[in-house]
Amino acid sequence: MRARLVAGNWKMHGSRAANQVLLDAVVEGVRGVECVVCVPFPYLAQVAEHLRGTQVAWGAQNLSEHASGAHTGEVAAAMLAEFGCRYVLVGHSERRQIYGETDAQAAAKFAAAQGAGIKPIFCVGETLEERDAGRTEAVVSRQLDAVLVKCKFGDAVLAYEPVWAIGTGRTATPEQAQAVHAFLRQRVGAAVRILYGGSVKAQNAAAIFSMPDVDGGLIGGASLVAADFLAICAAARTKG
Ligand code: PGA
Repeated sequence: MRARLVAGNWKMHGSRAANQVLLDAVVEGVRGVECVVCVPFPYLAQVAEHLRGTQVAWGAQNLSEHASGAHTGEVAAAMLAEFGCRYVLVGHSERRQIYGETDAQAAAKFAAAQGAGIKPIFCVGETLEERDAGRTEAVVSRQLDAVLVKCKFGDAVLAYEPVWAIGTGRTATPEQAQAVHAFLRQRVGAAVRILYGGSVKAQNAAAIFSMPDVDGGLIGGASLVAADFLAICAAARTKG
């Protein structure tokens, strides 16, 4: 039985004051489900301090594929590990699309995280154009294969995030999500947790989480509103 996981991706949002309020509410309200928040680098120390001894884990949203050296502006896996960071998003579509991250780079970041004892939350997903062309499985396979040729997936987390559903308010139907999750499941095995991400909200979370191969969610916008995030966490908890 895979334990459900709900991961919040704050993206480039937050302030010390706002984080304090949000984290207080999440710690107070979350029950019976594993939960992690992935925050911008400058807030890692605040979040580590705030969440120490609570049931809420925390992670980063990116890392360098390099161990150290002349990489101005980059953050190494070992630096995150030194903070006690347990999770890191890798290969998010915004990294791929806006910052030109390649499959090979995402795979190298995955390896760097694992090497430092940090669990990657590895994101795959197709664009609308790719879906319409019937290429969804080919695209997510290509993204995943880049990792699997060089690493064991191990206890990393996989996230299926159709690009057309991210931040658009247009979520995949539970059946669309399940179809891709089942396909990914064949590749990574029964033990790996596969999260769905893309416009998960309090209203649609329960239906998506009821699918047999959906093990939780990766939540963007709704993770910034405590009541919404907690409702999504509750929906994950009540799955059979
Ligand atoms: P969204 O983002 O929930 O705002 O669609 C999900 C993500 O990008 O991880």
